[in-house]
Amino acid sequence: MNPFVYGEVTPVAAFVDREAELDRLAGDLAAGQKVFLISPRRYGKSSLVAQAMRALTRRGLLTVEVTVSSYSSYVAFLEGYARALVASEARFDRLTAWLKELFTAVRPEVRIEGDTAGRGGVSLSFPSVRTARDEARLAAEVFALPARVAATRGRRLAVALDEFQAIGGFDGGQVEHALRAAVQTQRDVGYVFAGSEPTLMERMLGRRRPFYKAGPVMRLGRIPPDRFAEFIEGRFRRTGFKPEPGLGAAVVDLAGNLPYDVQRLAHETWDDVKVAGRRTVGLDDLHATLRRLLGEYDTLFEQTWQGLTLAQRAALRAAVVEDGRGLLASDIRARHRLGGPSTVQASLAALVRHEIVMREGDHYVVVDSLLREWVARTTY
Ligand SMILES: Nc1ncnc2c1ncn2[C@@H]1O[C@H](COP(=O)(O)OP(=O)(O)O)[C@@H](O)[C@H]1O
Ligand SMILES: [Mg+2]
Repeated sequence: MNPFVYGEVTPVAAFVDREAELDRLAGDLAAGQKVFLISPRRYGKSSLVAQAMRALTRRGLLTVEVTVSSYSSYVAFLEGYARALVASEARFDRLTAWLKELFTAVRPEVRIEGDTAGRGGVSLSFPSVRTARDEARLAAEVFALPARVAATRGRRLAVALDEFQAIGGFDGGQVEHALRAAVQTQRDVGYVFAGSEPTLMERMLGRRRPFYKAGPVMRLGRIPPDRFAEFIEGRFRRTGFKPEPGLGAAVVDLAGNLPYDVQRLAHETWDDVKVAGRRTVGLDDLHATLRRLLGEYDTLFEQTWQGLTLAQRAALRAAVVEDGRGLLASDIRARHRLGGPSTVQASLAALVRHEIVMREGDHYVVVDSLLREWVARTTY
């Protein structure tokens, strides 16, 4: 089986590095801290959180994970969150009594689908909630639930709210206040608020905002390239291939050391050499796979490119060719016909907003390494 995994939460077997981060996150959650976990998309936040939750389950905690961005409304989020919390009670025959204990202000409509073995699913809804005031009351009730669950079950709880930046879309600020007020009193409940849009998340932690100094902040960085390279060659070997020296490093480099891109390129290369019935895997194989992928993504990238203004296209091309450095310098602006500094700045800001490039220290990187290669090879 292909040992490389992308596009989903990383299973234990494909999880690399992050020992220090994992220790810290699990430790903080077990201690009831409110942790903020921040990085751009596809760095491995959800994978790290899932790993921490597995460790905490082994230590006897109850764990609850909810992806905030997957709900289409505030009430839908509150229902989903309540359902996830309630689902931590494994015995559905006790649920009805338990629910009476849990909900005091707003009564849910409950549907229990159970079997005779005592396993079941439960769905909660709050059809009586109509006005903004009802919503606020329901929110207060749901945000208080984790502490009640911990108390009635007699166990500590760890809650993960993933893609947390999406909370801002629900009701303009009130959610943050309500949630902050609730969580700060819950000593037996650890929270991790994981967010993918670093600027939004950092703003949420600002001085005048409810979550200012609410708890420790973890900024997830990249996986050390040598560890990642070693993992790749090791997995090729373990599955019967003979990687040429330097293969792992080349994958990491071509993928811009973005965890998702690294696993994607390794996974697709593995598939190709498997189908070809090869034993040794070298840089030629890697590049053949890259060409195949570029072909498959061509329509998508063409669309992205067409959606940009001319000034943005020029700035993107320059970022690719110049490795994201010195884009405001006059010789580089002249070489790529970028126009004045303010034009370049506006274009780069738009590219950042569209999550096509991101700023990293003093330079810009193209987020998707395939798009970077596509721009380098097919645009002028
Ligand atoms: N620790 C890790 N080791 C190996 N691959 C990882 C790791 N973390 C993330 N990845 C890769 O990156 C992909 C995206 O990870 P994910 O946790 O979904 O990121 P995020 O939640 O930050 O968007 C995963 O599917 C996997 O391919
Ligand atoms: Mg995620």
